[in-house]
Amino acid sequence: MLVVNPAYKAITEDWFDPEHWGRNARPVSTGGRGSAWFVDSDQGGMVLRHYRRGGMIARFSDRSYVFTGWRRTRSWREYQLLSHLYSQGLPVPEPVAACSERARGLWYHAAILIRRIEGAVPLPEVTNLTDEALWREVGVMIRRFHDAGLDHVDLNCDNILVAGKNVYLIDLDRCRLRPGTAGGRWQRANLQRLWRSVVKRMPKVTETQRDSLWKSLVVGYHKRPPAGPESGKIVL
Ligand SMILES: Nc1ncnc2c1ncn2[C@@H]1O[C@H](COP(=O)(O)OP(=O)(O)O)[C@@H](O)[C@H]1O
Ligand SMILES: [Mg+2]
Repeated sequence: MLVVNPAYKAITEDWFDPEHWGRNARPVSTGGRGSAWFVDSDQGGMVLRHYRRGGMIARFSDRSYVFTGWRRTRSWREYQLLSHLYSQGLPVPEPVAACSERARGLWYHAAILIRRIEGAVPLPEVTNLTDEALWREVGVMIRRFHDAGLDHVDLNCDNILVAGKNVYLIDLDRCRLRPGTAGGRWQRANLQRLWRSVVKRMPKVTETQRDSLWKSLVVGYHKRPPAGPESGKIVL
């Protein structure tokens, strides 16, 4: 299966093979599981990711998943979810293409290409890590996704990217849209997961500082969106 964003031209299966790119592909060194590459294509910078398992099962089979239909493959699902959120103007990278192939027996392999966010670094690596305004922005961003119904099942610091003043959410593998409102069970679980990651990934920040930055995030999360142009008008 190959699905390609119509904004991109002539993308074929080879695009998912890092060897195809030679020196134009290099492994993403920070913050991932080691199966992602930055790719320089004639249509811009991209990230190529192969779906791989972590944990115990990886020893037995690290890139095979049980096939139950093309539209249930990891790559198809992530591609669709990214398209949906991207088209609503939410800060996710633009999906470029997704691919999956049947392997022996019941198995399949899958990969995805997404647009690279230029100049982006994972949150723990930003130079202004202790900037309260940045953390407020992260809170506002997460809230926008929750309001759109996104349950991000792997919300950790490395899946939040910062590029200048903008913050983005990445790595939507296994994520899904769900009903609910802020403060609900899955929303709280997302934030708790992020908190654990903050504790783990920011050893150089003091506890007091960390607590204060987290408070800023929570303030951003609960902040009401700025009033639209219509509000404040006196209706006669
Ligand atoms: N669209 C993107 N633009 C820039 N960097 C990215 C992008 N997507 C991923 N990265 C980088 O690659 C790393 C790993 O990607 P990610 O999608 O989180 O996969 P995984 O965590 O499964 O390896 C991220 O932490 C980030 O540093
Ligand atoms: Mg990740």
